[in-house]
Amino acid sequence: MTQDELKLLVAKAALPYIKDVAIIGVGTGSTVTHFINLLADFRMDIEGAVSSSIKTTEHLKKIGIPVLELNAVNGLDVYVDGADEVNAQRQCIKGGGAALTREKIIAGASKKFICIADESKYVDVLGKFPLPVEVIPMARSFVARELVKLGGQPIWRENCITDNSCEILDVHNLKILEPKVLEKLINDIPGVVTVGLFAQRPADVVLISKGNDIVTL
Ligand code: A5P
Repeated sequence: MTQDELKLLVAKAALPYIKDVAIIGVGTGSTVTHFINLLADFRMDIEGAVSSSIKTTEHLKKIGIPVLELNAVNGLDVYVDGADEVNAQRQCIKGGGAALTREKIIAGASKKFICIADESKYVDVLGKFPLPVEVIPMARSFVARELVKLGGQPIWRENCITDNSCEILDVHNLKILEPKVLEKLINDIPGVVTVGLFAQRPADVVLISKGNDIVTL
């Protein structure tokens, strides 16, 4: 199977989790793109969705699903999103698509975060995928120096402005042995908007497509 076929397979595996759910949270990325396409086909019981990015909003609207503000709903039961890396503790690195801030907000506001990933995303130790950190533009160089002190090698993602008008540093060469500790340390740097480590609030269920099978963590 190609990686794209694996993404489609795992997107399908998320459908039972949104049965009887009226309003869902929807992430961003190529795996979620498959998931949204499936919503167009099956529609399920969805009355509306809270979106994690402008790209996802446009896609949802295109297939006729009303997009709601998070402020207009009283929390969410289910949030479906992909990941760039995920470990056995269901902790993730996210933000390869620059949508980490809204993704983290929606994950935090949801009772159940269902993470959908193909097998290439599963790792023993997080950090091979460069860790995205969204920063206030004026703080970028300062935050980068602080990230170097933490052992990383931050690279500015040039020509990338997030949906929140901020910028992204991708931190290379991290071997993240204590994800919760590192998440807090980076959160505490002034100028950081969001770090793409989802460790303090990990996924509740991780679905991984492996060959023709789905592994559930
Ligand atoms: C978006 O900012 C990310 O968090 C995505 O969820 C992540 O990059 C996974 O993307 P793919 O499904 O495209 O691999």
